[in-house]
Amino acid sequence: MNTNDKNHNLSVELGKIHLRNPTMLASGILGISQSIFERLYHENIGGIVTKSISVNPMKGYPNPTVIPLGGGSYLNAVGLSNPGVNAFSKELSQNKTIPIIISLVGSSEKEFSKMVKIFDTLNILGYEINLSCPHVSKMGMEVGDDPEAVNKIVKTVRMNTTNPISVKVGVGSIDVVELARVALDAGANMITAINTLRAMSIDVETMMPILSNRIGGLSGNAIKPIGIRCVYEISKKLEAPVIGCGGVSSWKDVIEYMIAGASAVQIGSVLGSTGPRIFNQITKELKNYVEKKGLRNISEIIGIAHKY
Ligand SMILES: Cc1cc2nc3c(=O)[nH]c(=O)nc-3n(C[C@H](O)[C@H](O)[C@H](O)COP(=O)(O)O)c2cc1C
Repeated sequence: MNTNDKNHNLSVELGKIHLRNPTMLASGILGISQSIFERLYHENIGGIVTKSISVNPMKGYPNPTVIPLGGGSYLNAVGLSNPGVNAFSKELSQNKTIPIIISLVGSSEKEFSKMVKIFDTLNILGYEINLSCPHVSKMGMEVGDDPEAVNKIVKTVRMNTTNPISVKVGVGSIDVVELARVALDAGANMITAINTLRAMSIDVETMMPILSNRIGGLSGNAIKPIGIRCVYEISKKLEAPVIGCGGVSSWKDVIEYMIAGASAVQIGSVLGSTGPRIFNQITKELKNYVEKKGLRNISEIIGIAHKY
């Protein structure tokens, strides 16, 4: 895929996955329709992660589900609303060339194996297993905080596919490096770090929590230093590609994540204010940086901070 693109100096490899540039769509942001995926691809995106998909459709929580906190940070509790595996596989069935990674969420091995058997018939690059959503019970972080469950789920997905698997980790009650190690030992090929962080906001007039779910996930600018720290620690200690995520809103943030050790970088919350154009803009600016620094390929900067 993408061998004829012009940006050879921005291309990156995530094991078997080749991306024309390191920018990716983070899961849950614009991620459920093929027409939007095509639009994003047209805007020069490197790769796309879909909304997390479950076996059965999920309605999600009532509004309000996403709150801007100011300063480029957000709180959300969408509740993993998604159309379910059958409807979503139909949606993607026409996909030929868009580099799509399907995000999976579930609470049992059986659910994951069912989804992978269906999605494996499609034209996709691989999977990202969401073991870190901080606000849905019996899914996401509640699974990610249990190393035995992580081990079983990743092994099950591994047994059912030869496609690359990334495990998306977050900041829960288990050390992020240990969680990543369990996932890689169970057969994951790479790690995505990080998901949103469990957080809350209260309206002082009504004295009520603002989110209908009360607790949600913090994203955007506020979490970038935490994402950078996690990527640095995981990529320094473990031998696997790491995809950075959290608080990216500019080319500089992408570069910072790569210097910390990320092989590619996902962009989420900022899209609410910029729309898909940001991928085109960031890609141009990354190209300028690579040229200015005299790099043959952007991947030369991956993990440079590890010497410190
Ligand atoms: C509205 C919203 C929905 C999200 N849905 C998902 C999801 O379905 N699966 C998932 O793994 N992460 C989900 N995330 C987390 C993002 O993929 C990302 O990890 C997080 O927002 C940090 O990146 P950012 O600061 O660039 O937004 C969601 C985030 C937001 C703001």
